[in-house]
Amino acid sequence: MGRLISVASGKGGVGKTTVTANLGVALAKYGKSTLIVDADIAMANLGLLFGLHSAPITLHDVLIENLDIHEAMYDGPYGAKIVPSGLRHSSYRKVDPDKLKTVLRSVKDEFDFVLVDVPAGVDATARAAIASTEEVILVTTPDPASLTDVMKMKITAMQLGTKPVGVIVNMRRGEKWEASLRDIENFLEMRILGVIPEDPNVRRSWDIKHPKPVVVLKEDAPASKAFFEIAARMAGVKPKKKRRGILERLLGFFKKR
Ligand SMILES: Nc1ncnc2c1ncn2[C@@H]1O[C@H](COP(=O)(O)OP(=O)(O)O)[C@@H](O)[C@H]1O
Ligand SMILES: [Mg+2]
Repeated sequence: MGRLISVASGKGGVGKTTVTANLGVALAKYGKSTLIVDADIAMANLGLLFGLHSAPITLHDVLIENLDIHEAMYDGPYGAKIVPSGLRHSSYRKVDPDKLKTVLRSVKDEFDFVLVDVPAGVDATARAAIASTEEVILVTTPDPASLTDVMKMKITAMQLGTKPVGVIVNMRRGEKWEASLRDIENFLEMRILGVIPEDPNVRRSWDIKHPKPVVVLKEDAPASKAFFEIAARMAGVKPKKKRRGILERLLGFFKKR
């Protein structure tokens, strides 16, 4: 039984696409067969992170022309499969978002995880993307505007029959003015699945010429480590700890005294 999970937030720019892509690739690295789908059909950009800007067949063709979704799957890092959306602005209006549900449920059991990047907002396309999945991971930054939008998204998901499994706090700087993790948990009444720090490596990973998910670009970047931790818990494996050298262990020993 595969898990069909959407990644949503309400607010734009909080890191849904970044989280979907990196979590998917990290799960694949842990040996899980993973499909990553860009359901942001109007503002598609997940494919860009995988260098798929000119993919000949996209989710648009699956939803408009009834092509088989397998024809829109491309190879990503560690065996992850990627379904990009089309970048053409004109064609997205013709997309029937309700069809997404049928399409995604038809491939769900071919994978351990199907992760779906949801558009911002709570309009028909966002709702259809959430409704097409069984579970939803919510992404927020520690800002009040993002938190209130996530709350709305949680309620929307529940109304649609999609189970909120928890929240990922992204772009945390650890500043005093940010909401604390405890406040976030209490406000949203949801489990925090993980915390991704604000990390310049993430922006670098969207390099216009050589894009790649940060978990591939720099495995030991602070954001990558956080993605691997969340993925390890989801995959039920222990994240590999780097073995400390003799000198590091010796210094650790003296620090403790
Ligand atoms: N943890 C992070 N640290 C720094 N920058 C980040 C982080 N997560 C996302 N970003 C940046 O924020 C911007 C928006 O991210 P994106 O994933 O496109 O958000 P959304 O899909 O919610 O609109 C991108 O430029 C991305 O590089
Ligand atoms: Mg996005």
